Amino acid sequence: MATPPKTASGRDQAVPRHVAIVMDGNGRWAKRRFMPRVFGHKYGMETVVRVIDDCARRGIEYLTVYAFSSENWKRPDEEVSGLMNLVLVGVSKYLTRLAKDGIRIKVMGDRTVVSEKVRQAWNEAEELTKNNPGLTLTVAFNYGGRWDIVQACKRALADGVAPDALSEDALSRYMALAHAPDPDLFIRTGGEVRVSNFLLWQVAYSEFYFTDCLWPDFDAAEMDKAIAAFASRERRFGGVPAAAPSNEASSA
Ligand code: FPP
Repeated sequence: MATPPKTASGRDQAVPRHVAIVMDGNGRWAKRRFMPRVFGHKYGMETVVRVIDDCARRGIEYLTVYAFSSENWKRPDEEVSGLMNLVLVGVSKYLTRLAKDGIRIKVMGDRTVVSEKVRQAWNEAEELTKNNPGLTLTVAFNYGGRWDIVQACKRALADGVAPDALSEDALSRYMALAHAPDPDLFIRTGGEVRVSNFLLWQVAYSEFYFTDCLWPDFDAAEMDKAIAAFASRERRFGGVPAAAPSNEASSA
């Protein structure tokens, strides 16, 4: 069997370095069981923990998950408070174990409007794991891609970055995901085929994978399929394949 190609640093190119996930389908998963939507989110959180372990085992270095979007405040109060409560439950139930496993946790999103308790839980998770050498888990919470671009511009301006000095690289350093390379693989579960204001800046050259699988059912076999799809893609970053004749039309 042919050995998969390696990157300059010796990594297996067929394995994405950074996976970003829109974890959709919790509500429908719960509804099919005649349970409230929050029940689906609860199972969704168990899935997140399993997927963290699975990604770490595969050598994926960064995992970024969309746990609460800036638009999710529009959901019924009961669901919003259920999701906020899940943060507290999740941190108290899993933080010690994830920290011991070397996972580094980062949270991105507007933390100014979440409750003090939720803010403290996220701060604790970040503080306890900040020097960990393993997979970096970034939880997008009260996050929106447009918010991210605006907050990056505001911080660059506040830092005195001059218009002429504002390049793509310069602005990237102010984006909420500045601690990670751009996602290689963007997965959305739950059958919808849209980005929903997630990582608008960072997915410029990500490979997209959409599946009907509802998030609570997403497991290692589903991840195998997503990674196989990724491995089958030819990433050109706007260039042309090395062997292509020079007069062939290029595509992004
Ligand atoms: C979208 O499914 C899912 C969410 C808005 C919440 C995702 C949250 C989790 C998976 C829990 C993890 C939590 C933390 C704190 C890490 P949906 O409710 O829109 O599903 P539907 O499309 O079936 O209604």
